[in-house]
Amino acid sequence: MGNGEPLKHQVAGERVIRVRPSRPLSGEVIIGGAKNSVLKLLAATTLSEGSCVIRGVPRISDVHTMLELLEGFGSRTSFANDVVEVVTPETLTPHAPYELVSSMRASFSVLGPLLARCGEAVVAFPGGDDFGTRPIDMHIEALQRMGADIEISHGYVHARAPVLKGASVTLAWPSVGATENIMMAATLAKGETVIENAAREPEIVDLAAFLNRMGAHVLGAGGQTIRVEGVSGLVPVEHTPIPDRVETAVFLAALGAAGGEITLSGAQPSHLRMLCDKLGEMDLRTSTTRNGLWAMSPNRLRSTDMVTLPYPGVATDYQPLLVALLSLADGVGLVTENVFPNRFGYVGELLRMGADIRVEGRCAIVRGRERLSGATVRATDIRAGAALVVAGLGAEGETHVRDTRHILRGFDGLVEKLAALGADVAWAEWSQPTVVS
Ligand code: EPU
Repeated sequence: MGNGEPLKHQVAGERVIRVRPSRPLSGEVIIGGAKNSVLKLLAATTLSEGSCVIRGVPRISDVHTMLELLEGFGSRTSFANDVVEVVTPETLTPHAPYELVSSMRASFSVLGPLLARCGEAVVAFPGGDDFGTRPIDMHIEALQRMGADIEISHGYVHARAPVLKGASVTLAWPSVGATENIMMAATLAKGETVIENAAREPEIVDLAAFLNRMGAHVLGAGGQTIRVEGVSGLVPVEHTPIPDRVETAVFLAALGAAGGEITLSGAQPSHLRMLCDKLGEMDLRTSTTRNGLWAMSPNRLRSTDMVTLPYPGVATDYQPLLVALLSLADGVGLVTENVFPNRFGYVGELLRMGADIRVEGRCAIVRGRERLSGATVRATDIRAGAALVVAGLGAEGETHVRDTRHILRGFDGLVEKLAALGADVAWAEWSQPTVVS
């Protein structure tokens, strides 16, 4: 550039979330439908011809991605207010392309239902993401036991099974996605499928309820053994999913960072016992109300140790939120991540905010600080993004959370809902000065 001087200019504005230190929160927040239920219910609509209606659906980009996937199979979809209608045709094109599966891993949950309904499915291999390689061996092995012929080539999983047969499957780990794929495939298989060491998450119970309403015979969901007796056909239904446990956790964590007293309407306390116990150890009090949860937090929390585990343990999806809270609490907390050992990738962003966290393998040692320090940080995944917003509430000065597309994948109106509780959080234009030489 002319005299060799670098040229500084502003790149086009990016929408970021601007967070300022918050006064104590107060008021009511309404918890929406669970993302990780809705996505699987949408996948399950492919199991029957006709119109399924799902109510209480969050307006998040993962739902739009799943609807796009369903449209690609030939279904017609509409999404108005919080109601999704999916009209599934008699004949589907069971092909899930790379672009959609790679942008959202939950897309892989179409494999089981498509295979059961169409006798074949071609679904892109989901690949890794921000917290690890995330293999699919348990999904594949179970479907093979059910008689599917599966080949992985050119980045796609090609599955064929003119007739799926019930089988006995013991999972090496209670995988949520594998349990769901097997359950959905088994609904239309010949004979009984038994899943041992099944995942027990509330979203599994919700999916089983949806399938049973469609005419499936699923027994034992929520326990370690699920039995599915195959039926010859299913019918479309209407359903309202369970409330989102992770969205609830975000508002509890925000309360922990800012202090105050809030009610979380629509939250399901029975799904949140272990989380509430842990928060209780930190001095954040919760109690069940007629239609949700009440919570109160002092200005300063106490540290505690925690271990993530499959349900009913402390969910891995809460882990970044809890680490953010511990970095603002009195004392030292040890967090052990057992579900996704590489799920500490966001910690570097908290370090930018002055947090004192040391990651050793699958453990994080978090020393609480009096205050964090507002900084520009990047959301590395859905839940880590929310954790950075929470950390910003307990930081001096302004925090700008970039890469908000991750947050929009999983949270409907997070900024607006926090602002309604009195948090100083807003969408903002943010321009990055760049240097062009
Ligand atoms: N695993 C395997 N092989 C498999 C499947 C899983 O080794 O075939 C391993 C995974 O690598 C991981 C562990 O088993 O170490 C648990 O994975 P799981 O299959 O249970 O997770 P998932 O179904 O891929 C869902 C949620 C995640 C949530 C986990 C654990 C959806 C769309 N995703 O993932 O949610 O963390 O269960 O509860 O339901 C999120 O919403 O942000 C999110 C990441």
